[in-house]
Amino acid sequence: MAASWLKDAVFYEIYPQSFYDSNGDGIGDIPGVIQKLDYVKSLGCNAIWLNPCFDSPFKDAGYDVRDYKKVAPRYGTNEDLERLFREAHHRGMRILLDLVPGHTSEEHPWFRESQKEEKNAFSDRYIWTDSWISGGRGLNFVAGEAERASVYIVNFFKCQPALNYGFGRVEAPWQMAHDSPAALRTREAMKDVMRFWLDRGCDGFRVDMADSLVKNDDERKSFTSSVWRDVRAMLDADYPEAVLVSEWGAPKLALRAGFDMDFYLNNWGNGYSTLMRDYDQPVDNSYFRAAADRDINRFLDIYRDWYEDTRGLGYISLLTCNHDTPRPRRTLTERELKLCYAFLFTMPGVPFLYYGDEIGMRYLELPTKEGGYTRTGSRTPMQWKPGKNLGFSEAPSDQLYLPVDPASDAPTVAAEEGDPDSLLETVRALLALRHREEDLRAEGPFEALCTEKGSPFVYRRGSLYLAVNPSLEALTAPVDPEGRSPLFVLGGVSAERGGITLAPQSFAVLK
Ligand code: NOJ
Ligand code: CA
Repeated sequence: MAASWLKDAVFYEIYPQSFYDSNGDGIGDIPGVIQKLDYVKSLGCNAIWLNPCFDSPFKDAGYDVRDYKKVAPRYGTNEDLERLFREAHHRGMRILLDLVPGHTSEEHPWFRESQKEEKNAFSDRYIWTDSWISGGRGLNFVAGEAERASVYIVNFFKCQPALNYGFGRVEAPWQMAHDSPAALRTREAMKDVMRFWLDRGCDGFRVDMADSLVKNDDERKSFTSSVWRDVRAMLDADYPEAVLVSEWGAPKLALRAGFDMDFYLNNWGNGYSTLMRDYDQPVDNSYFRAAADRDINRFLDIYRDWYEDTRGLGYISLLTCNHDTPRPRRTLTERELKLCYAFLFTMPGVPFLYYGDEIGMRYLELPTKEGGYTRTGSRTPMQWKPGKNLGFSEAPSDQLYLPVDPASDAPTVAAEEGDPDSLLETVRALLALRHREEDLRAEGPFEALCTEKGSPFVYRRGSLYLAVNPSLEALTAPVDPEGRSPLFVLGGVSAERGGITLAPQSFAVLK
């Protein structure tokens, strides 16, 4: 059972280094987030996922944590973060921090101790093999970096040694069991980090690589799941309103492991990627692209199975994008984006809007920054208004964390605000509708009513009927609206007994 405040939650993801620079040093910061809380709220977002803001060498944009309990000086102080919690709560908003439980930075004091030759309290905090040169039995490892005659296992980059939560299937003497004292100590250390921030007012965590903790896990990730169930028990006892959202992409497992929400991740060729990021296929048939040979069943085949299987356990989270994924504007025009967001924001579960997607920020081709590689293009500064640095920062332009969109038509908040046809105002209208209509919130029942190719996709949320037609032709779905009439329309609709007809590139909610 997920925390009750999620029933009407809409999240906004903030990449702190790129949101708003309050002190003119070229990098976004926590006081900057506080200054923009009213803006976030004005969108209809009542919760925020803040990407890692902790002390770090930033070889992976902060997913390489050096001190879990200290805000990175470039973002401000712990006091600033606590003020963010208070200011958010004051506005009825919640803040999730980004918890990176699977690995630390190679500069974390635990690792500095762990790599020493002499045995100490942290020797088993990470996963070390019994050879100075040979491998990790299928796990990625780094040799030649440590004082001890051993190689260590990494989770992602070289700078991210894997913490030791033990092994499900123990296959070698250096592999400790998932319930070994060292593995349990790691788990307690991470619970201590969570308590530290929950005690200071945070509302929960987005959990990085949530399925990666126990190595040699079984197919159902039973061992890693039991770690999370233990964490959940702590939350239920001491922080019953705290929530967890997992970067897992397998809600059937994640929601049973105690997560309130699990992201439908953009993995190549999966159902979610077919909505708007189908471009790695020979032909881009992204569902919302006007020209596509579209089929909503590419999405629904997986989604419906997950949805039916997890009802009542928690929520599937659909995202516009995140900091790892190309922005939707890369594939979709403004009109197509409106339809896509209309769909994402009227589906069950808890939706996430990535900063800047509400104005249609572009994906920019840029050299890598802080381990971003191709992800860098989705991490550029928020575009607030025309003029210097598009309102992101007072710093000289060459000192910005990343450049702003140089195009003369770079979208900004100021340019779109107040224009009812803009993407920004469309997002506001959609989110207001979602909050107003209880059937559109997280738990309103979902059923697909018409999924035929060549027809609008028609679905039911509670007593509402919704229909979307991304194509360039008017299309009719053979669905009797049973007396419902238009409540919200993008484009045009007519609802008669013979069917629901949508004008080209249109979306409608019937009540
Ligand atoms: C997933 C995060 O979203 C990504 O940005 C990061 O690089 C990896 N996990 C490693 O922590
Ligand atoms: Ca700053």
